[in-house]
Amino acid sequence: MIGLASDHAGFAYKEQIKRLLAEWKLPFRDFGTDSEASTDYPDWGHLAAQAISSGECTQAILVCGTGIGMSMIANKHKGVRAAVCESSTAAQLARKHNDANVLCIGQRLIGWDTALDIIETFLETVFEGERHQRRVTKIHSLTNL
Ligand code: RB5
Repeated sequence: MIGLASDHAGFAYKEQIKRLLAEWKLPFRDFGTDSEASTDYPDWGHLAAQAISSGECTQAILVCGTGIGMSMIANKHKGVRAAVCESSTAAQLARKHNDANVLCIGQRLIGWDTALDIIETFLETVFEGERHQRRVTKIHSLTNL
């Protein structure tokens, strides 16, 4: 299950991502927001990140103006490894090396074609494990998150 969340500044992309995932037949849950009315990104990012911690979702895609605020709230949750990506190369490495389970993108910073490329890469790329596994494990053991 892929969790989705956005604030007002990421709402349009979240709706496009929903159409994309439906087309790809990938199950998702939308944690909000539900309009372009001004709102606070932590409220929505928190709900999706909690779903990663609980195991309800294995991955999440969070959208705000920059992706930065969403990554900050998401990374305060147990088991979350959120990465802000502005290129498919970043998304590929976030998966290969960091086993990122949450993708954060900024609707105000990247065009839809780039966002699409990033999302496809994020969902398709497999974690490389080995030495990277040791490092990823430390992220959680050192922080208790
Ligand atoms: C909202 O104006 C904006 O600050 C928010 O979407 C996000 O970019 C924060 O990180």
